[in-house]
Amino acid sequence: MTPLPMLPPGLFVTGTDTGVGKTVATAAIACAQAAAGRRVAVLKAAQTGVSAGQPGDADFALAALGTVQPAALACPRRYAAPAAPLVAAWAEGTQVEIGPIAEAYAALAREHELVLVEGAGGLLVPLAAGWSMADLARYLRLPLVVTARPTLGTLNHTLLTLEAARARGLVVLGLVLVGWRDTDDVATLTNPGLLVELGRVPLLGVLPWDPALSTERGQLGGLHEWCRAALAPLLGGRFDAAAFLAACAARVPRPIERLLAPHAHRASARPGVGDGTPGLA
Ligand SMILES: Nc1ncnc2c1ncn2[C@@H]1O[C@H](COP(=O)(O)OP(=O)(O)OP(=O)(O)O)[C@@H](O)[C@H]1O
Ligand SMILES: [Mg+2]
Repeated sequence: MTPLPMLPPGLFVTGTDTGVGKTVATAAIACAQAAAGRRVAVLKAAQTGVSAGQPGDADFALAALGTVQPAALACPRRYAAPAAPLVAAWAEGTQVEIGPIAEAYAALAREHELVLVEGAGGLLVPLAAGWSMADLARYLRLPLVVTARPTLGTLNHTLLTLEAARARGLVVLGLVLVGWRDTDDVATLTNPGLLVELGRVPLLGVLPWDPALSTERGQLGGLHEWCRAALAPLLGGRFDAAAFLAACAARVPRPIERLLAPHAHRASARPGVGDGTPGLA
């Protein structure tokens, strides 16, 4: 068997927003890694929006993996209100404690080769007083996998997330786009290349839109069939980012390199950059 690329012992799966596909990406990475022979655990740092007995995000990933973990380790903190953990805990008259989350991570890390920690919402969502998701990732010393939508609106959300992560000293391992559909939409087709260039980030996967998949209903769809094709070798798959980007570029009307070349358009497209525009250095 070919040796697997080196991955850290844990990854923090964050996203540009709630509902972007963190759970699906976590489950896909877990399955690709397990298929490549690694012992994988999952941890939902704090689950909100679930009532007692209702399955949460970690249950979806565990069902995909076909393994069980004690609930106290898979999801040490659960709250009923569909809100940021800080707020959902407050609504129940309590606070999220970081200790049990860190202890669950440490316990899982002792028994597994890879622990995937899913955040709640996006990177700056408050977890507890003085703690954001970014603070938790830094405390656990985990590099980030940033999940994002592939469609219109993702450029700003993703670039802001990358900038915020780096400003806090976090390592960004790469980007995973979730819910790719075959399209002729010029925004969607140029988003992956622009994110790689402007975000200076490797594209570690593009997960297809799978109509048979639903995290709410616990339906895995074809996740086991597509997870390895959709994820880069670093995450246990065989996704070829360069080939994907080239295929996107081939479907847009103009050469995509010209999008980012500063002098490729009329000089007035960038006022002040060597075009003699008065008043701008
Ligand atoms: N590739 C996909 N194909 C089809 N549906 C998807 C796909 N990825 C995500 N979804 C759906 O989109 C919704 C959000 O996905 P998911 O639960 O993974 O997001 P999330 O970022 O984990 O959300 P949360 O912030 O609640 O944890 C769910 O209904 C899920 O079933
Ligand atoms: Mg989730």
